[in-house]
Amino acid sequence: MGTNPSGTRRPSRGLRRAVVAGALGVLGTITALTVPLPSNAAESTLGAAAAQSGRYFGTAIPAGKLGDSQFTTIANREFNMITAENEMKIDATEPNRGQFNFTNGDRIYNWAVQNGKRVRGHTLAWHNQQPGWMQSLSGSTLRQAMIDHINGVVGHYKGKIYAWDVVNEAFDDGNGGRRDSNLQRTGNDWIEVAFRTARAADPNAKLCYNDYNIDNWSWAKTQGVYNMVRDFKSRGVPIDCVGLQSHFNAQSAYNSNYRTTISSFAALGVDVQITELDIQGGSAQTYQNVVNDCLAVPRCAGITVWGVRDSDSWLGANTSPLLFDTSGNKKAAYTSVLNALNNATPNPTPTPTPTVTPTPDPTPTPTPTPTPTPVPGGCSATLTTVNSWPGGFQSSVTVSAGSAAVNGWTVQWTWPGGQSISSLWNGRQSSSGSSITVRNEAYNGSIAAGGSTTFGFTANGSAATPAVTCTSP
Ligand code: XIL
Repeated sequence: MGTNPSGTRRPSRGLRRAVVAGALGVLGTITALTVPLPSNAAESTLGAAAAQSGRYFGTAIPAGKLGDSQFTTIANREFNMITAENEMKIDATEPNRGQFNFTNGDRIYNWAVQNGKRVRGHTLAWHNQQPGWMQSLSGSTLRQAMIDHINGVVGHYKGKIYAWDVVNEAFDDGNGGRRDSNLQRTGNDWIEVAFRTARAADPNAKLCYNDYNIDNWSWAKTQGVYNMVRDFKSRGVPIDCVGLQSHFNAQSAYNSNYRTTISSFAALGVDVQITELDIQGGSAQTYQNVVNDCLAVPRCAGITVWGVRDSDSWLGANTSPLLFDTSGNKKAAYTSVLNALNNATPNPTPTPTPTVTPTPDPTPTPTPTPTPTPVPGGCSATLTTVNSWPGGFQSSVTVSAGSAAVNGWTVQWTWPGGQSISSLWNGRQSSSGSSITVRNEAYNGSIAAGGSTTFGFTANGSAATPAVTCTSP
């Protein structure tokens, strides 16, 4: 719904189309739906203009600017999707291990929802903006802390978030491989574990992988992420969307193959969201190209710019990267974006909800096996199912020392019904048929008296909680 220059309300484009089609129907015309829209069918804000084709137009908001009335006036008028610029990141939401703080995240969430907007969640697992306690963790402890963090944050916002950037910036800039980080060093499967954990914590949020420098189709980093998403889709790892941050500058310039990038990811069966758009120099033409490339791909669901006025940008006002100048005036880039959105061919079928994603089991069954009586000087183990989905499940095994310290451990069990492990972390697996043996890694073999460590795995087959035994030399 928009306002025309004289200030009166006009019916929405959908209603206007229905009126046009209805009038033509009376004349018995069967080509009614192909009649072009009247040329005055233009919305006057970015959000309303994007909504005509079933898309959104969003911005990032820092909690500190909710008291800036020029900022909130523009943000409220123009945008219908909100990302917290920093307030839902790891350091903000879990400043001390196990102690969550949602004060500022909730302020932004509440402002958005009270003003009729949806919210993107940013971000759950990232090498940057980790609190000090997490930076100093490694191995199984860090892996568990990541899982606990995702459960804590996604659980708090369960049912409220349109899409989560589950994992942010996990690929290396130079080649198509992974970026080294404390999270990467917990094992290559950390990304899929993060996605499975997030799916179990909120089955209704779309789950995105988000990164920068994956906009140019010919870059190795783009191909690396593409191959990961293709692999995830083929193995049923729950992923719904790819976030192209799209921070464009001289070193990482917009390229006309951007449309190929968007359509190639979409062809894998995921939505594409442009998540952090800014263009240094603020070229109106480049902004228009970006919008048109998104509009050309039905599964490009929407665009978020990373700030409102140039003075709000993390890059500094002098780079002029956004759609409003420092005084809050619309820039030439704003007009080119609005016009491009208004010229979009309405999506006859607005962006489809993904149907390819395996439906997760809505009630994962955490059935811990009974704790065996610890043998003094020995170890005990319990296996818990933390997540399950059709054809697979994820389990966590806690290995505990008894009244004496343990130096090296071996956990064994037998699968009851043909299950098989697809990936295992924080332990070394050997198996013969249905008999599984897992030994400690070099870094988690020593457990203090009364202490414990955890390893985990994902497996194919129906969720099972076999009895497990633990032995230590
Ligand atoms: C930036 C914020 O805009 C800054 O305020 C903060 O100091 C650093 O992070 N990629 C991302 C975003 O995923 O979270 C970053 O946001 C910009 C780059």
